[in-house]
Amino acid sequence: MKEISFGHLLKNIFLKRNNMEILSHLTIPSPVTQVKTQWSEAAGIELYLKRDDLIHPIISGNKWRKLSGIFDHYARGDYDSITTFGGAYSNHLVATAASCAILQVPCKGIIRGEEPKNWNPVLKMCALYGMELQFVSREAYKNSNRTEGVIQRVLHIAEGGAGQLGTIGCQDIMRETDTSSINKIFVACGTGTTISGLVTYAREVALSSEVCGVQVLKGDGYITNDIKQDYGIEGVTIYDEYHCGGYAKTSEELIRFIQDFTRETGVLLDPIYTSKVMLAIKKCCVNGSIKKGEKILAIHTGGLTGWFGKSAELDQ
Ligand SMILES: Cc1ncc(COP(=O)(O)O)c(C=O)c1O
Repeated sequence: MKEISFGHLLKNIFLKRNNMEILSHLTIPSPVTQVKTQWSEAAGIELYLKRDDLIHPIISGNKWRKLSGIFDHYARGDYDSITTFGGAYSNHLVATAASCAILQVPCKGIIRGEEPKNWNPVLKMCALYGMELQFVSREAYKNSNRTEGVIQRVLHIAEGGAGQLGTIGCQDIMRETDTSSINKIFVACGTGTTISGLVTYAREVALSSEVCGVQVLKGDGYITNDIKQDYGIEGVTIYDEYHCGGYAKTSEELIRFIQDFTRETGVLLDPIYTSKVMLAIKKCCVNGSIKKGEKILAIHTGGLTGWFGKSAELDQ
């Protein structure tokens, strides 16, 4: 598949002009890999992965895509530092910490829940990259204002990098990829920010591929509602039945699926997002939502640090 790097070049020039040398640390555009598994071969589909997991070991996948839109904005504004939010295993927090270390931007992470006696590997890594951590009770966290905004020259980034700035960076996933022969594009949905970026770009340039989302949290139709409310996006196919028990939950079926997929392709899936997307694709092949001969592109949105909290589940 051909990589189109025009958008990337523009951003590259802009970021360099602003002393944002971060792009020399990242693999952008990310490659596209074809993978073959027993089930994809049996279904007669061509399966491709957009390898955003390869962008960076820690600033991977859609974390970077969202942050790129946010750092673009940071570079243009008059800010002193960044503050952001998340749970103790947040991919977004550690990706922000690593990006800020490269860019030498002071940053603070506000963590949901009391400080644990022993910090987990994600928290330790945030601190290793120089992020200041502040723990707040679940109650105080719930009641705090955690939206995108500015307070006294501090740029506040919403949980998970969600928000309008995040969607802008996510458009690059499509911009740098040749999807002309692809029938369907699948991506994981947590807040819906990433899919909103993909759909916005796809509609702007009238892509013929259909963008489909897989909800990784329980909740009938919540992504459909949220993307309509937050970004005015309607008419997108969102599968809300492949969450495997809910956010950050795994089923025995999912763990077996990840093991088989990893052995068959050599591509490691994270346990929270892309693994559920791939399992959904397999199920769609079986139930006829994906037809023989179709070319499917799944976005590997990275997040492999998710295994820090989930490795025990491989013992199942
Ligand atoms: C690795 C990974 N993939 C996918 C998603 C889902 O993205 P979004 O919240 O933009 O729907 C997230 C959460 O941000 C994530 O960490």
